[in-house]
Amino acid sequence: MLLGRNSKCWCGSGEKYKKCHMEFDEKLKQFAREGYEIPTRDMIKNAEQIEKIKESAKINTAVLDEVEKHIKAGMTTEEINTIVHDFTVANGAIPAPLGFCGYPKSVCTSVNDQICHGIPSEDVVLKDGDIINVDVSTIYNGYYSDASRMYMIGEVSEEAKKLVQVTKESMELAISKVKPWVPMGVIGATIQEYVHKHGYTVVREFGGHGIGLEFHEDPFVFHYGYEDEGVIMVPGMMFTIEPMINQGGYDLYIDQNNGWTSYTKDGKLSAQWENMILVTEDGCEILTY
Ligand code: MF3
Ligand code: CO
Repeated sequence: MLLGRNSKCWCGSGEKYKKCHMEFDEKLKQFAREGYEIPTRDMIKNAEQIEKIKESAKINTAVLDEVEKHIKAGMTTEEINTIVHDFTVANGAIPAPLGFCGYPKSVCTSVNDQICHGIPSEDVVLKDGDIINVDVSTIYNGYYSDASRMYMIGEVSEEAKKLVQVTKESMELAISKVKPWVPMGVIGATIQEYVHKHGYTVVREFGGHGIGLEFHEDPFVFHYGYEDEGVIMVPGMMFTIEPMINQGGYDLYIDQNNGWTSYTKDGKLSAQWENMILVTEDGCEILTY
């Protein structure tokens, strides 16, 4: 369909095309002519969607804060699941993981050498010195949000602390590079360079993802690679950055009993931090702080 200058814009804003995304489309076409990958329209959120998704993200952040208040040695990961589930529901929201592709619980709790998708269990008791990633995802009024943090239980070894810290810094550094009209590859390149400098490796099988109207949308967000790769970021794009960083090698295996939980192959520690990012006119906004 040909979009006239005076037609309503494709983004759903209700504005005329010429006043909304017309210039934007021209600019993107120029990037395409220069050989860059450009985002598809379904990767771009309008103002109304952004407001709704922010409400979901706010609850998601409150859930992580609630976990932070209670998490301690002696607690089981099942208890974390209960905190997440009950707090989410009490806020009128739904835990996105529950039933997602058959996932059995309301949150992912990944301890020590577990990379991601650790399943809460009464058999997993947190002990002094553990590091754990709690990955919370929320649906509110049909809109999705997703973020995770690391928690250190009691006295943690210096090497574990450093892994957790460097992983967080790699995410923050990558976020600081997010701005419109730059290829997404800058995210992976930044993370990879930073963690390699500290002797760590980047997990390759999992990445960040578009989010908002669905749990996992395009694009896939690489946490390694080259800065001139990937789609051009544009205002209204929303995605997670969630590097999984290993102390040893990046190879992993998946628990064949539950089909979900991934572990480092060498049994060394893994850490992860995740935030949801909105690309704005002049940079980006973190939606999950
Ligand atoms: N929260 C994870 C992510 O960051 C996805 C978990 S899928 C689940 O993308 F089913 F395990 F919840
Ligand atoms: Co995610």
